[in-house]
Amino acid sequence: MTSCLPKFTIKLLLILCFFLSSSHAFTTRDYSDALEKSILFFEGQRSGKLPSNQRLSWRGDSALSDGSGYHVDLVGGYYDAGDNVKFGLPMAFTTTLFAWSIIEFGSSMHNQLENAKAAVRWGADYLLKAATATPATLYAQVGDPNIDHRCWERPEDMDTPRNVYKVTSQNPGSDVAAETAAALAAASIVFKDSDPHYSTKLLHTAMEVFDFADRHRGSYSDSLNSVVCPFYCSYSGYQDELLWGASWLHTASENSSYLAYIQSNGHTLGADNDDYSFSWDDKRPGTKVLLAKGFLEKSTQEFQLYKAHSDSYICSLIPGMPNFQAQYTPGGLLYKQSESNLQYVTSSSFLLLTYAKYLRSNGGVAACGVSTITADKIIETAKRQVDYILGDNPAKMSYMVGFGQRYPQHVHHRGSSVPSVHAHPGRVSCSDGFQYLYSRLPNPNILVGAILGGPDSRDNFADDRNNYQQSEPATYINAPFVGAVAFFSDESTTV
Ligand SMILES: *[C@@H]1O[C@H](CO)[C@@H](O)[C@H](O)[C@H]1NC(C)=O
Repeated sequence: MTSCLPKFTIKLLLILCFFLSSSHAFTTRDYSDALEKSILFFEGQRSGKLPSNQRLSWRGDSALSDGSGYHVDLVGGYYDAGDNVKFGLPMAFTTTLFAWSIIEFGSSMHNQLENAKAAVRWGADYLLKAATATPATLYAQVGDPNIDHRCWERPEDMDTPRNVYKVTSQNPGSDVAAETAAALAAASIVFKDSDPHYSTKLLHTAMEVFDFADRHRGSYSDSLNSVVCPFYCSYSGYQDELLWGASWLHTASENSSYLAYIQSNGHTLGADNDDYSFSWDDKRPGTKVLLAKGFLEKSTQEFQLYKAHSDSYICSLIPGMPNFQAQYTPGGLLYKQSESNLQYVTSSSFLLLTYAKYLRSNGGVAACGVSTITADKIIETAKRQVDYILGDNPAKMSYMVGFGQRYPQHVHHRGSSVPSVHAHPGRVSCSDGFQYLYSRLPNPNILVGAILGGPDSRDNFADDRNNYQQSEPATYINAPFVGAVAFFSDESTTV
């Protein structure tokens, strides 16, 4: 890299130089391996009764009576990250993005497609249970994180209260409800051909839940403040989820009422804001890209606006463009924040590839002021991020557990760090577990496929279990990566 630039040290050129000089080449086999592992991770996050074909065999059944004290069956779903709470908002967002990964890149998943669909079904089955009492109620969470976090326990040993939290017409939560509608609608597309009955049920429930979200407007951060904030507080409000939910319903159904809804409500729900981070909290960039599909692939003229805003988003990520807004580490990683940064890297990579796919479908380009960006250039930008995660980085470390030669050993995850129930059947109580949090030994159970929070702004990574900002996995980090890595695993689609 030094030989590449003897004199000029303009930041821009440095970045460009880095992009050109990165030479590590992963093969399509490597990406296929990463694809399989990225899906396998979700088995480690499963709550409820595990099926006989469970492959991450160090896990066992857990939380088998969730909801029973409230006369509702809330068994199943996913733990969000390294703890044992079932948070509705990130679980629904995870399911939406996993489904979107399959919708766009399922044709590249080959022998992993069934595993991917099983992972979406695991989330969608739970969300159907959470929506069982609409139009009056949506169950939004199981477990009080303040209490859960005082223990370091395997899910299989959990003895903390499994409080159930809900949003209602009186105590609304349009954010969690509209995201749940988005997830069910996106999942309905995944199962449309292979299981039409299930798909119809998903879509029908999505419509009901969306109606509930829209009719009783409010943020779940107000209704359920002490148990959702600061963990998954809806900082961006609920407007972004309403537009996102309507966009997924528009995409999944043939029903013109959602097009009318988007047209009449889009402007008040964030269609005109340029916004540059896509996460479990803020859905605006994803909504723009999804609706741009309608314009690019189906010529829905009403959505031209969303193509323009998608262009702004894409351009913001590409060094040298007039409205470049992003920050990159010296090693070339997109950097947003110190905590769980890779969630932004995987979600942006997914949007870049998805948008490139839409552009290619009609020969279009992204307009960045007076410049234009081709689909190939957008794909190259995403590839750099995917490759960084998989080990092409200054630390020569893969941030996906179980992938490559070197990967993190001290994952901030209760189930992975405490000996398995099969190896150590005796209980490990709430406080006894902390010896495993603080232990210097590697995790005994490998949470294969988990992508962690990742390195800091200088490409440094601590591999310290107590540094949850860097060493905690999350379902919403992996879900968009599944689609991104599927794209690169397929020889017929790569550049
Ligand atoms: C279309 O959606 C609206 C609003 O949810 C609903 O009232 C109507 O019954 C739907 N029409 C069809 C044909 O499904």
